[in-house]
Amino acid sequence: MQATRLIHLSGATVSLVLEPNTDGAPVWRYFGAPAGSDGSLSVSGLADAWPAAGAQPLPPTMLENDPPLTLLPTHGLGWFNQPALAGSRAADGGDLDWAHDFRPDDVQWDEHTLRVELSDDVAGLGMTVVYSVEPESGVVSAWAELDNRADTPFRLDWLAAACVPLAPGMDRVLGFSGKWTLEFQENRETLGVATWRRDNRRGRTSHDSFPGVIAGSTLGDDDGTALGAHLGWSGNHTILIEPLADGRRQLQIGEWLAPGEVVLARGERYRTPTAYLAFSARGLNALSASFHQFVRQHVLAWPGGRMAPRPVHLNTWEAVYCKHDPDDLMSLATSAAEVGVERFVLDDGWFHRRDSDRAALGDWWPDARKYPHGLAPLIEHVRTLGMQFGLWVEPEMVSPDSDLYRAHPDWAMHLEGRPLVTGRHQLVLDLANRDVEDYLFDALDTLLRGHSIDYLKWDMNRDLATAGHRGRAAYRRQTDACYRLLARLRAAHPALEIESCASGGGRADYGMLAHMHRVWTSDSNDALTRIGIQRGFLRFFPPEVMGAHIGPAVSHTTGRRHDMAFRAAVAVPGHLGLEMDVRMLDPDERAELVRWIGLFKTWRDVAHSGTLRQGEAGASLAWLQIAAPDRSAALIAIYRRREDTDRYIAPMPVKGLDPMRRYRVQILHMPTAPHYAKPSGLLATLAERGLVLSGATLGDLGVPVPPLPPESAVVIGCTEALD
Ligand code: DGJ
Repeated sequence: MQATRLIHLSGATVSLVLEPNTDGAPVWRYFGAPAGSDGSLSVSGLADAWPAAGAQPLPPTMLENDPPLTLLPTHGLGWFNQPALAGSRAADGGDLDWAHDFRPDDVQWDEHTLRVELSDDVAGLGMTVVYSVEPESGVVSAWAELDNRADTPFRLDWLAAACVPLAPGMDRVLGFSGKWTLEFQENRETLGVATWRRDNRRGRTSHDSFPGVIAGSTLGDDDGTALGAHLGWSGNHTILIEPLADGRRQLQIGEWLAPGEVVLARGERYRTPTAYLAFSARGLNALSASFHQFVRQHVLAWPGGRMAPRPVHLNTWEAVYCKHDPDDLMSLATSAAEVGVERFVLDDGWFHRRDSDRAALGDWWPDARKYPHGLAPLIEHVRTLGMQFGLWVEPEMVSPDSDLYRAHPDWAMHLEGRPLVTGRHQLVLDLANRDVEDYLFDALDTLLRGHSIDYLKWDMNRDLATAGHRGRAAYRRQTDACYRLLARLRAAHPALEIESCASGGGRADYGMLAHMHRVWTSDSNDALTRIGIQRGFLRFFPPEVMGAHIGPAVSHTTGRRHDMAFRAAVAVPGHLGLEMDVRMLDPDERAELVRWIGLFKTWRDVAHSGTLRQGEAGASLAWLQIAAPDRSAALIAIYRRREDTDRYIAPMPVKGLDPMRRYRVQILHMPTAPHYAKPSGLLATLAERGLVLSGATLGDLGVPVPPLPPESAVVIGCTEALD
């Protein structure tokens, strides 16, 4: 037997092993824990591996060629599973070139990157496939690019950005569903014999179907294998997991394409959005840690190259909605500054004739009725108070009742002969029209040049329907054009920060995050609901980009009432803000809010650079811990969602600290409830003076947890005891 030389890419948490294949794309042999790590493949085993061909005895009735899973399985010559490519060429009397067979022209790899060039001369197609492992986080970036080399147009229906194997036993899946005010809901399912699949056709990332999935063995927080995949794209997507004949599964992720959306003329290319993949042999938290590290180092592009401490926001939406009065807003800003707010964000309602969501989108200049002297006096006031100023915009939209629409009705996305579909009384501008892009750039640029604005809250409040550009489906063009507009704006205003909002968490993905700095996670500020929303969000995104606001006592979206402490404790690990009229607080609540803002400011460096672990104990308790990168501190928040029959909460082991160092452990907040037993003994000491414990004790035995009534939280800090 001739030994085969394998392709081996590796990073801190992952190894990818493929076998070069003279007949096609490299064959998948392994995607899992790094070679050399416990229980995984050995490096020496890779050196003299047996070849995949012939290792599969062919049962009777099979084709004599049963193709293996490659980086690019294609349909037509014996691969009967989901192909990575689907498309054809229109010809008289029916389509041609729907069957594909790519041969390798060039296969290059080093320790971290594999680049494969292939061609199918019969179909007249070329293909590039790239997998690249970022060494420190282990996150793999993957994409594919198709080019049409023949004279007739090639219609593309599907091209996977990534196609990877799941080892036998990885038969559990964690997918994400949701709706407005209930995004990032985790659904655990057991994979069976049918294909698991999620499509998003809404034209934006969507509340319903976050473009990410995790497949694994146990899906435990800290145990089991887990492979996470995310599409860094703010448009449509498909994710599918399909069983293969050998007990493995294939996972494909890519852009969902509408019919005729991508038709390549000779020489034209289609490149998929980038898929991001990570692997963990130690459960979901280690997987998130890889994604967080990667986002911090390779996705986010901060002004000046470095994240400044996340300023505490006050967002005006739930305080005043569209009722803007500069004097009132100045008084709100004054109160906000007094409680410790650092960035005042003027939400919807400031621009020309915007009294409700029924009109005015597109007319991006201050409403002269509400702001007779423009925005400058308010901005100046905010600045004098020492705060930054942020402004809400929703550039991609137009209201039928607007000067812009009256002047350019043809600028809205539409399909000839079809009705215009409105959502929140608004239409979508066709950004792929250069006149539209220029209009929006000029309007935003004028605002930014004319005012001292540090921050835009960039909203996007509807799905795309009748998403047409000159009759063709234009989801993709729209997404690309939006990125282009953002890039142009950031180039012109490099100090600007931007928030991605789409009625809350409708546009959270790495594609957007490459242009923006914060995600408005959800329009729900209900702390109880937020625990689950944030848990799902944090699987792929680090806490510093998670917009998390302390809302009013009675949630505007659920009507549920929570005390300040519960609302604050849920918001504090994220990028904190207030979504309330702080002037309405009574002195006690106000003092409590000031304390929480102080706590956030003390802990934001840890929370926004540290390693996050999340967990649940049944349906009743949820918790998170964030340990500083230098292991000098950890912040712990434990949330009681509802009552349960356990009399005590088990001590919570604190991970991520140094077993050899000593830490002062202090309860920073614990709930008081009428008639509730006052903590005594150790818990009282922890709350009043704190206690010095070793990292080993904290890691092994944990920290005691006080009793928690339903819908309450305890927050604990551990800081290195240097004395
Ligand atoms: C939806 C956003 O999610 C809210 O925060 C607010 O900005 C409104 N739009 C304003 O219309």
